[in-house]
Amino acid sequence: MLKAPSEASIKIGKMKGLILSGGHGTRLRPITYSQQKQLIPVANKPILFYCIEDLINAGIKKIGIIVGPNKELVIDTVRSVNWDADIEFIYQEAPLGLAHAVKISEEFIGKDKFVMYLGDNLLKGGIKNFVEDFVNSDVEASLLLTRVENPEQYGVALVDEQKKIIIKLIEKPKKPPSNLSIVGIYGLTSIIFKAIDDIKPSWRGELEITDALHWLIESGYQVRYDMVNGWWKDTGTPEAILEANRLILDNLKTENKGKMINSKIKGKVSIGEKTIIKEESTIIGPVIIGKDCTISGSYIGPNTSIGDNGQIINTNVEDSIILEGTKIIDAGKIVESLIGKEVCIEKSDHLSGGKKFIIGDNSKVGI
Ligand code: TTP
Repeated sequence: MLKAPSEASIKIGKMKGLILSGGHGTRLRPITYSQQKQLIPVANKPILFYCIEDLINAGIKKIGIIVGPNKELVIDTVRSVNWDADIEFIYQEAPLGLAHAVKISEEFIGKDKFVMYLGDNLLKGGIKNFVEDFVNSDVEASLLLTRVENPEQYGVALVDEQKKIIIKLIEKPKKPPSNLSIVGIYGLTSIIFKAIDDIKPSWRGELEITDALHWLIESGYQVRYDMVNGWWKDTGTPEAILEANRLILDNLKTENKGKMINSKIKGKVSIGEKTIIKEESTIIGPVIIGKDCTISGSYIGPNTSIGDNGQIINTNVEDSIILEGTKIIDAGKIVESLIGKEVCIEKSDHLSGGKKFIIGDNSKVGI
C-alpha cells in the first residue's frame, strides 16, 4: 500500500530551488574562460549536478538555475540528464551579486518559499533536514552555518544559541565575533524581494545577500540557522576543488567496466566502459577513470579523477583532476594538478633540455 505523503513533504513539494551558476569564476582561470566553474567535474561529475541532486533529494520539484557567461554549455549539460524535477534557466546579464540573482528570479519564485544554493558549493550531508526544518518553521529566512578556522575570510554570524536565531551577520570581519561562517545555502521567503529593493550595491558594486539578510534582522524578522552536518566545501579555487575531489572519492564505489591487461588495481577504483589499463600499469585508489580511456605503463595514485577519452602513457599521476580528452605522455610525475579538457602534455626529444609551453592566459605551471 502506498504511504500518504507527510505534511512536510507536501509543503516541500510546493517550494522552489534556485541554483546560482553564473559568475566569472576568476579564481579558476584559465579553466573558466571556456566553461563555468560549476561544470568542473569532481569525481567525474559536474559540481552543479551535486547541487541539483541535493535539492531533488530534499523533495524540491521546481528548480531555477541562474546562468551567466558561457550559459549555453550549462544549459546543454544540465539538459543532457533526465532529472526528476522541472528545471528552468534564468539569464543574468552580468554577475551583479547574489541578491541581484535573487531579484531577477522574482517571477519564477512568486510567493513560494525557496532554497537558494550557490552552484559551487558541495555538502556531504545534503540539505534534507535543513529544508524540512525551514518549511516547518515560520521564520522568514534560514541559513546553514559551519565552524571555520579563519572566520576573517567569510561572512560570519553572531547567534543566539538558545533561540537558534541569527542576531548579526558581518562580511569578512577583522575581529570575528564567532567562528560560525555562512555556507552558500539559504532558505528564503518572498519577503527577501522587499529587502533587496531596499538595499544599495556594496563598495564592490554588487547587491549583497548578507545586506538583504541584515535588512530582515533589522526589520524584526527572524532568521534562524542550522549547522552543517558533515563537511562543506566552497569550490572557488583549484586547491578547494582538489580537496573536494579527495572528499568525494573517499566514498567511491568500486566498479570495473574496463579491461585490464597485465596491470594491478588496489583500493576503491571505478573504471568506465571501454577503458583499457595495460602495460604494467598500477592503479591505487581511490581513483575514478571515465570511459574510453587508455592507461598504459603508468601509475595512477590516490585521489585522482580522469575524465572520458583520456590517455595517460608512461606517466605517474596522483592527487589530481584531469578533464576529458586529455593526453599525457612520458611526462614524469604529476601531482596536485587540475588539468583542462583536450590538453596535451608530452615529453619531446627535440628541445635540447628546454621546456616548451603553449598554455592559456592565467595558467599556473609548477616546474
Ligand atoms: P562567487 O564565488 O562569490 O563569485 P564568482 O563565481 O564570480 O567567482 P570569483 O570570485 O572567482 O570571480 O559566487 C558564488 C556563486 O554564485 C557561484 O556559483 C557563482 C554564483 N554567482 C552568480 O550566479 N551570480 C552573481 O552575480 C554572483 C556574484 C555569483
